[in-house]
Amino acid sequence: MREIKIFSPATVANISCGFDILGLCLDTIGDEMVVREVAEKGIKITHIIGQDLPFETENNVAGVAALALLANIETTVGFEIEIYKNIKPGSGIGSSAASAAGAVFAINELLGKPFSTMELISFAMQGEKLASGSAHADNVSPALLGGFTLVRSYEPLEVLKIDAPTELYVTIIHPQIEIKTSASRAVLKNQVPLKKMVKQMGNFGGLISGLYTSNYDLISRSLHDEIIEPNRSVLIPEFNQVKMSVSNAGALGAGISGSGPSIFALCRGKNIATKVGGIMSEIYDKTDIEYEIHVSKINPEGIRIIK
Ligand code: HSE
Repeated sequence: MREIKIFSPATVANISCGFDILGLCLDTIGDEMVVREVAEKGIKITHIIGQDLPFETENNVAGVAALALLANIETTVGFEIEIYKNIKPGSGIGSSAASAAGAVFAINELLGKPFSTMELISFAMQGEKLASGSAHADNVSPALLGGFTLVRSYEPLEVLKIDAPTELYVTIIHPQIEIKTSASRAVLKNQVPLKKMVKQMGNFGGLISGLYTSNYDLISRSLHDEIIEPNRSVLIPEFNQVKMSVSNAGALGAGISGSGPSIFALCRGKNIATKVGGIMSEIYDKTDIEYEIHVSKINPEGIRIIK
């Protein structure tokens, strides 16, 4: 029986001005998965350790993504999936994406890599659709490609990878409250005033340019979200306080990680990233909300094979 064990990383989507199109891959937090080839055709979820999630293949994001892959290839075998969850669902750091992307990555490896990464992204997006009602690619893309990723187009799907500036770190605070992506999308408006669109496009272009040229000041000036953050930040306790305090302490900028409640800060160098983690802690220590802090470099490779 052939099997593969993988590390499937957490991710930060949106990164302030790139709603649904920009994401980055984390290094220090992620799930582990074991995927095994079996004689019986189809997909079976056999273990889910760490979280209470559905075992039925059609109701599980990894299962649905795996089925989307199998619908595109003739196989004589099936696959069992074991999921060891470290990323909490509803955390804003790509829990469903890690499971969906991990499943299709591992099955593709066991089948001898018949699918391109772009195809794997489109299969994994079906898991996102199950989890949130929207087949967004801004978490599954960085999980599969590593670095920063830009969804240049959804139809047809085109995703670009952008290598991270070498000194860039991410600090995350994950308040232990759950915000479902579907709920966090429901508070968004469908119309964007032209003036805000112009500002957002300027910041987005500036951020991409700053990433390509390792211009940390430009990255910092560009980390603003005129459109999504004002509606969502009210769902996150102490958001404004955290954002202001970490920027004063030297972070390049901060915003909502994905659909929240996690808050991310981009920092130049590990020392500032660690200090920023301390400041986030101090603010949340004054509340009765438990939290986790993560400090991570940008993961350049995405999902990796453990054995
Ligand atoms: N772009 C998605 C959203 C990411 O903000 O709703 C969800 O993790």
